[in-house]
Amino acid sequence: MPKITYALLDGTRREIDGTAGVSIMETAIKNNVRGIDAECGGCLSCATCHVYVDTAWSDKLPAPSEDEADMLGFVAAERTATSRLSCQLILDASLDGIVVHIPAKQT
Ligand code: FES
Repeated sequence: MPKITYALLDGTRREIDGTAGVSIMETAIKNNVRGIDAECGGCLSCATCHVYVDTAWSDKLPAPSEDEADMLGFVAAERTATSRLSCQLILDASLDGIVVHIPAKQT
């Protein structure tokens, strides 16, 4: 079961057991992680599931698809080199321990 750590804006961290095949966004919504809105439910049309992948993990992820890269242009908070849309980050064993940081705003 891959664990995800969500680093929240208030400086606290939530470590949650995820499920392979389920996205980091869905895992956050199911566990009431504050700061991920996911207004479109994961169909890549809202950019309100923005996260900053911890730099220790960002190179371990596949590159964003063209559609994700396009939608990253619409995030509300500052976009950085490790910005990703968490609905597109699907958990598997290789991501056990991944850390994502919640941005200051989603809208
Ligand atoms: S949930 Fe809407 S783009 Fe990810």
